[in-house]
Amino acid sequence: MSNRKALVTGISGQDGSYLAELLLEKNYDVYGLVRRSSNPNTPRLTNILDKITIVDGDLTDSTSLNSVIKDVQPDEIYNLAAQSFVGLSWNQPVTTGMVTGLGVVQLLEAIRQFGSGDERIYQASSSEMFGKIQETPQTETTPFYPRSPYGCAKLYAHWMCINYRESYGMHISNGILFNHESERRGLEFVTKKITDGVARIKYGKSHELVLGNLDAKRDWGYAKDYAEAMWLMLQQKKPDDYVIATGETHSVQEFVEMSFAEVGLDWKQYVKQDPKFMRPAEVDYLIGDYSKAKRVIGWEPKVRFKELVKIMVRADLEKYRE
Ligand code: NAP
Ligand code: GDD
Repeated sequence: MSNRKALVTGISGQDGSYLAELLLEKNYDVYGLVRRSSNPNTPRLTNILDKITIVDGDLTDSTSLNSVIKDVQPDEIYNLAAQSFVGLSWNQPVTTGMVTGLGVVQLLEAIRQFGSGDERIYQASSSEMFGKIQETPQTETTPFYPRSPYGCAKLYAHWMCINYRESYGMHISNGILFNHESERRGLEFVTKKITDGVARIKYGKSHELVLGNLDAKRDWGYAKDYAEAMWLMLQQKKPDDYVIATGETHSVQEFVEMSFAEVGLDWKQYVKQDPKFMRPAEVDYLIGDYSKAKRVIGWEPKVRFKELVKIMVRADLEKYRE
């Protein structure tokens, strides 16, 4: 019997790289949608590039999506592609809407028109949709109140996935994932900015770390654990939506304190705040209840906050030591 085929959009991103590795371990033929760039955009895939098939495409170009779906006929499709940086979404609200919102509909249409009809689809929804939280902890039934152009675009995509599921009977599951980080996290996100900054300061390459709001609280998990949840969702007979989180919340300041403590430094001597890193509207507090995921798909987080900080600080120390 031939291997199952999985198409991953956003394969060059943090989550895409972990998911691709997991799918290869499970003997899938892995196809990764990658958009054109003048610089190499697959450094996270270096170790597996010869084991996967890269297909050209862009979420904003329906022609490319139609061709990819027609040619590959994937059994499972993981839509991870997005303009995913919340901060940037105020500067580029239109691009964010086109990629993170409408791009998803273009992909759904490509699948509906050119797919086999038996495929299963994962959509990367986000805890950013809870925004100004209406309930604590947040569950699958907590009302949404997005606070950023990114959150609004994700919410549109989320509801379109539900609409296509109900309208056409498509097997689409939304993973409402809370923040998840790793040594592969992009430098613009606060955790990586902190651990990278700590390592630079430790090795004398920098003398300060400039941040925005230190009071915001997030439910931070480990990206590798979250890739497993995506796969589990598509192994269920019935499509559904799931909160994926750790059930713990910590402030940005706690992340800072623990990261500096890890290298024996006092954060107060190095951290400065600059209004340019503050957001026009903030998501103050997120904490997720993952009990449905535990009960239905048997998922639980393995790496907790303290270990996550250690993993990230150590990886950055290693990077600068080299
Ligand atoms: P990421 O590292 O920023 O990766 C985003 C990916 O999307 C990259 O591969 C990027 O390609 C690709 N992409 C961007 N615009 C595209 C376009 N127009 N066409 C095709 N591909 C495009 O994000 P991540 O942290 O892995 O997150 C994966 C997904 O989960 C995203 O949808 C994100 O919004 C969502 N999410 C993330 C978190 C989290 O905490 N990490 C939580 C909830 C939801 P390039 O490499 O070319 O830029
Ligand atoms: N990026 C950044 N840079 N954030 C900062 C900084 C800074 O210098 N200083 C403070 N923060 C605060 C932000 O204001 C926010 O409250 C918090 O740190 C986390 O910011 P990010 O790491 O940029 O993540 P996010 O929570 O906005 O968005 C991430 O999680 C979402 C899920 O809730 C992204 O991965 C999104 O794609 C994802 O959907």
